[in-house]
Amino acid sequence: MKNDRIIIFDTTLRDGEQCPGASMNLREKLEVARQLARLKVDVIEAGFPVISDGDFQSVQTIAREIKGPVIAGLARCTAKDIDAAAAAVKPAGKRARIHVFLATSKIHREFKLGKAQDEIVRLAVEGVARAKGYVDNVEFSPEDGSRTEPEFLVEVCKAVVAAGATTVNIPDTVGWAVPDQFGALIQRLHDSVPEFQSGKAVISVHCHNDLGLAVANSLAAVQAGARQIECTVNGIGERAGNTSLEEVVMALRTRGDFFTGFACGVNTREIVKASRLVSRMSGLVVQRNKAIVGENAFAHSAGIHQDGILKKRETYEIMDPQDVGWGQTELPLTKHSGRAAVAARLRHLGFKLSDADLNALFVRFKQVGDKKKFVYDDDLAALVEGMMTEVAETWSLDYLHVTSGNQTVPTATVRLKKMNGQKGETEYAQDAGIGDGPVDAALKAIDRLTGTTGKLMDYALRAVSQGKDALGEVTAKVDFGNGDLVTGKGASTDVIEASARAYLNAVNRHLGQRQAASKNGRQP
Ligand code: KIV
Ligand code: ZN
Repeated sequence: MKNDRIIIFDTTLRDGEQCPGASMNLREKLEVARQLARLKVDVIEAGFPVISDGDFQSVQTIAREIKGPVIAGLARCTAKDIDAAAAAVKPAGKRARIHVFLATSKIHREFKLGKAQDEIVRLAVEGVARAKGYVDNVEFSPEDGSRTEPEFLVEVCKAVVAAGATTVNIPDTVGWAVPDQFGALIQRLHDSVPEFQSGKAVISVHCHNDLGLAVANSLAAVQAGARQIECTVNGIGERAGNTSLEEVVMALRTRGDFFTGFACGVNTREIVKASRLVSRMSGLVVQRNKAIVGENAFAHSAGIHQDGILKKRETYEIMDPQDVGWGQTELPLTKHSGRAAVAARLRHLGFKLSDADLNALFVRFKQVGDKKKFVYDDDLAALVEGMMTEVAETWSLDYLHVTSGNQTVPTATVRLKKMNGQKGETEYAQDAGIGDGPVDAALKAIDRLTGTTGKLMDYALRAVSQGKDALGEVTAKVDFGNGDLVTGKGASTDVIEASARAYLNAVNRHLGQRQAASKNGRQP
């Protein structure tokens, strides 16, 4: 049976979230999952449930709330992992998938697992059979598949398919593969396992980008018989990342003349929105020249190119930017816009805010609207981002005054408001700090007021929208002493205020993590 439908399996919330500094909280993951559903990916890998209570809860919530795509949870080949994944994806009902994995390559068998080939096969089969006891839809991944002896890989594929795996995913875990060789490996698996030919089981690929070949390897695999591609929005993921969803989808579509007949169900007009959302939620900035979603992806600066574009767009453009969602900006809001208009625009942008959050956002919107003429969609999204914390007691910036100059000791006076959600009370606290510069002074005052000590490990400032009055958005990565980086974001027309807000956002996240860890009796 010929089946040229390519299944898009998105692992932004699992492999993507695994990269340092990209961790997202539940609210952020839900926002991303909602956008993935609008993007119409086929499968959302929502997390690795056994890893932490937070991961379990987010997979379970996504499985309950997100309609449309299949929801997958990752598990090692152990009963504890598989049981946790099964419980987490259960609310998705018939759309639940368990994804079990076990390393198969010689180097992993010998040095990581200390297990012989027959033991690996036995464990893989047991894992798949256990998962099959919970759901029909079971995926198996032989980790480091691309470096596994091909004849052993065939044996593993046959065994897990016989045990009930409906998808077998071949990971290029360390990004070692090159397209021709990887395509030949997939072809060999396809030709050796009758269920791959009949369509009873699907071959999937999961490529990492260490050599910049993840997209090319995925496309070579499709031509050789793979029918599922695992990928992430903006290509985020472990180390150099994973196959980029937008690149692989647009390559299949734009070069339909070459990839004849292959189709996927992704709504490409949602791509840019998805890219921006993931960038905001993960704190990973998209490089300007990134294919499809980078700011320069459709910018033509050379005079000859501009002239050609004006005469006929296709002279220098192989895709229509609108097909991936560029140029869908609406009329900007202004300080005169009402709460209903702001709420409607947020819905259009894909944000679902509670009444309390909408009220808080509306206050910030008015403050920003007073300072700048137009509030653009990106401005609004940046303001929402600064609020995405999940702490019962949240600090917010009430007042900031800084003095600085080349003959002055930089000093900041900060007043914070503490919302105690449980008691419904509001407290205020005020202090002043001196520092190496006005930002440092403000952060020191915040540390004193909140009782935290953060070290700023990374700091990025970008203009969110156009014009001299553009909102500046600061992304701060902060280490609160345990080596984990906590990302905070803040936006304002004043860059020092944006920095203080970003730092406070990270403080709130850190306090939230500490709160959750102490509830579970763990060290944060
Ligand atoms: O890269 C990898 O091997 C993985 C597996 C868990 C699929 O992420
Ligand atoms: Zn991976």
